[in-house]
Amino acid sequence: MIFAAAFLKLLKLVYKRKESPVRVNVRGVEISMVCDNITVNGKGHLCFDGQDTVELAQKYGTPVYLMDEDRIRYNCRVYRRAMEKYFGGESMALYASKAASFAKIYSIVSEEGLGADVVSSGEIYTAMAAGFDMSKAFFHSNNKTDEDIAYAISCGIGFFVADNVEELNAIERIAAQKNVKQKVLLRLTPGIDPHTYAAVATGKVDSKFGSAIETGQAEEITKYALSLEHVVLDGFHCHVGSQVFDSDVYLRASDVMLEFISDMKKKYNYSAKRLDLGGGYGVRYIESHPHIDIDANIKQVADSIKAKAAQLNIEMPVIHMEPGRSIVADAGMTLYTVGTIKKIPGYKNYVSIDGGMTDNPRFALYRSPYTVILANKADKPCDFECSLVGRCCESGDIIQENIKLPDDVSRGDIAAVLTTGAYNYSMASNYNRIPRPPIVMVRGNESYVAVKRESLADLVANDVL
Ligand code: LLP
Repeated sequence: MIFAAAFLKLLKLVYKRKESPVRVNVRGVEISMVCDNITVNGKGHLCFDGQDTVELAQKYGTPVYLMDEDRIRYNCRVYRRAMEKYFGGESMALYASKAASFAKIYSIVSEEGLGADVVSSGEIYTAMAAGFDMSKAFFHSNNKTDEDIAYAISCGIGFFVADNVEELNAIERIAAQKNVKQKVLLRLTPGIDPHTYAAVATGKVDSKFGSAIETGQAEEITKYALSLEHVVLDGFHCHVGSQVFDSDVYLRASDVMLEFISDMKKKYNYSAKRLDLGGGYGVRYIESHPHIDIDANIKQVADSIKAKAAQLNIEMPVIHMEPGRSIVADAGMTLYTVGTIKKIPGYKNYVSIDGGMTDNPRFALYRSPYTVILANKADKPCDFECSLVGRCCESGDIIQENIKLPDDVSRGDIAAVLTTGAYNYSMASNYNRIPRPPIVMVRGNESYVAVKRESLADLVANDVL
């Protein structure tokens, strides 16, 4: 009986989501939403995972990051099932925790059967704090310090993803000191342009990450890794970029990687066990962004890899993918309280909020688009053109330019910025000594704090007089 109820709940969770863009009709006003966990209730209030965001703002204060736990779990399951269905065996998705790293998220992804990609001792420490199984963790970054390497090995990290020869040498030396054999993947650059914004394109030959196949450095590092005693070369890794919508990119990258694997087999009789294709699938920040069908994309990649492996006559490697953004982005929403409204006749209008580039630097850094909705007036027509700006002391502190809000937007209104689950909290700062907002998780009918709001006292905790 209990089992049947649990099974039904699971089914509901998995199937309640529609995958298409959602348009909500409230009292005759058509509102478009970028994700189907967003609705509007009878009071005209914006709801997130079914919960009234105006009430959440009252309960927890603003600014506040909301995270929809149900959506995170759903996104994890889409990846888990697709990896199981199309690759099987040990193949597994690894949550790229740089997208949002806090203790609770490691428990959630672990419960959903994902491994993790970690990039610093800080992320390892956070994962450890949550009791994450470190044998399922892959340690990236292009410049791991000796301390990072020693710490990761002492935590029992499953895999290093070594970026370059110096790092490989450091892993060998420290693994020898600790008398362990350490599994390592080599990060390679397949020379693929992912057609995304420059700051997040990483697979091109001139990238600061990895060793290029084209220049012969990938082969050199492979040969060298095979000669080491405490490094166990387990396979290869590549990551072409982030916020990628062109699915062809993964097909081309995996082709190049499999050809390299086949080349290494021929030249050194080395059979790579693992191929990690990195992360990068794009998400919808605004309505014009396409929706990516993850299941269909993974099937396409799997079909292509299987055909290529057969053609090259090499063993099918264990496949990993490292989604970050597509696990957490649409599970996030940030709520702010509106403050000053400045109208400069003939020029432009500003709506200021009680947060800004300190909690979301993505427009300042990448001019990233976002959808903004007034949460307490979500059913009102939007004709007031303005820029949503933060409260930091610089003009670049903008969350979004040229958006439309209701004409009567005023001090005290609640502004919601959608799709903020990825690279917002993890990139937040204390610029202008502004404390970081809390993370409040919503789940079913409940909500709870996963990360507390920073206090003013927290800001001086490390200051020495
Ligand atoms: N694997 C590796 C090795 C990565 O470098 C990244 C992201 C991922 C996986 C995850 O990619 P995702 O699925 O999240 O696209 N701060 C930027 C994004 C930087 C991405 C860095 N690497 C932003 O806010 O857009």
